[in-house]
Amino acid sequence: MTIDGTHDETFDFVVIANRLPVDRDMSTEPPTWRTSPGGLVTAVAPVMQQNRGAWVGWAGATDQEFDPFDLDGMHLVPVPLSSEEIVRYYEGFSNATLWPLYHDLIVHPEFHRTWWDDYVRVNERFAERAARVASPGATVWVHDYQLQLVPALLRDARPDLAIGFFNHIPFPGWELFAQLPWRSQVLEGLLGADLIGFQRAADAANFRRAVRINLNRSTKDTAITVPTADGERESHVAHARAFPISIDTEELDRLAREDRIVARAREIRSELGDPEVLMLGVDRLDYTKGIRHRIKAFGELLNDGSILPGEATLVQIATPSRERIEQYRQIRDDVELAVGRINGEYSTLDHQAVHYFHHSYPRDEMAAYYLAADVMLVTALRDGMNLVAKEYVACRTHDDGVLVLSEFAGAAEQLTQAVTVNPYDISGLKARILMAVRMPDAERRRRMRAMRRKLRTDDVRRWSADFLGTLRGLAAARQGTAPAVMH
Ligand code: ADP
Ligand code: F6P
Repeated sequence: MTIDGTHDETFDFVVIANRLPVDRDMSTEPPTWRTSPGGLVTAVAPVMQQNRGAWVGWAGATDQEFDPFDLDGMHLVPVPLSSEEIVRYYEGFSNATLWPLYHDLIVHPEFHRTWWDDYVRVNERFAERAARVASPGATVWVHDYQLQLVPALLRDARPDLAIGFFNHIPFPGWELFAQLPWRSQVLEGLLGADLIGFQRAADAANFRRAVRINLNRSTKDTAITVPTADGERESHVAHARAFPISIDTEELDRLAREDRIVARAREIRSELGDPEVLMLGVDRLDYTKGIRHRIKAFGELLNDGSILPGEATLVQIATPSRERIEQYRQIRDDVELAVGRINGEYSTLDHQAVHYFHHSYPRDEMAAYYLAADVMLVTALRDGMNLVAKEYVACRTHDDGVLVLSEFAGAAEQLTQAVTVNPYDISGLKARILMAVRMPDAERRRRMRAMRRKLRTDDVRRWSADFLGTLRGLAAARQGTAPAVMH
């Protein structure tokens, strides 16, 4: 029921994520909707367009209520957040507590009880909103670290639902996770799901180990038996395993073959002065992405004379992200200082060493950049997957180009023919960048062909079909309509 007493429209498939696929942009007059940042939206939007369903999420504006609306074949159900909740739930607990804790403590996580209180409150609101739009027996798919309490809240309210959870970011080892004062509440929250998906097998193993140590529950392979709140009966069996996320390979491949994108890629190179080697970095401006390390390595290569000024240009595209959080301001200052220094030393009137853009671009423009770049630099210090690495490969329609890929990105487990790097090792990173720049054509093609072959089958369609097929099988088994099958 809606507040005025009318019934909400209900759906057999419901996605719940912190953000809707579009954000309200209040800086334009009149305000407009624009694509939300990040890999979650890139991956989940095509899944939603194929399964008519509802997407429950925040519309990116503060203290504003929006009615549900339809967009590109999706029914969007906005959840309002107040300015205090943005500070405590989103910028605070989600992005200054959980984000650094789950990314190897690259910066120090902060623990504040008021932030936790708002995290609980907002998770309750998301669960309540989703419970209202889910049809009886619907499949509900909860996404990411901002909403870890939603599975158990939904299980309490709606035991008829098939509940899945997917964590887009890493899940830390017990030695780090143990710091979280609310660790058992988070584990219990996640265990409300029938299926809990992670990017890597190691993340799923970290989660199961935390459940064994912290909740004193036994696990058998992927399965964890969850008792009811009073501990009397078995509530259900939750399964935790890896489902590495991917991209819409076919769509990007098709886009990168379009004449206008090919022409734009040529134009980009010419606007950059037709450098011999064009290197590219594309990231949200986040301290986990290793942007500073990459720029440092590039600067040292110029300084050593290993790369001559005029030989190579680095284009760094950085999407603005979480700009009110102190560590994000700091990384922006650091990156911009480093870019300024290198350009001051090595740029000439007709050649700029580093081009830095602090913008978001439309998908077509991103495809043109990927197509234009000879070497893609993905140097994340820790990353759940990193879709940018996969997008670059999907756009290399001539089987050329070299992907330099951090071993700390989930994507390294699938893209095994990339030039892998440890971004903390600046000398090693320099050597691997040089190897990429100097790599013979035949080797480039051999590596790229193998990675493209992999992504043709391991695409986002397979990811969602695998996850949702497994989830529905497990839920049917729980309800006694089918035997439990774990793929
Ligand atoms: P994360 O989810 O941490 O942001 P991913 O690499 O997994 O990292 O996903 C980032 C997504 O955002 C990709 O789909 C990428 O194409 C997109 N993206 C990154 N930078 C930009 C930008 N400047 N403009 C538009 N899209 C961008
Ligand atoms: O998984 C990465 C992720 O954190 C998503 O959860 C999120 O939507 C995206 O990156 C962008 O971050 P934000 O929503 O904080 O702008």
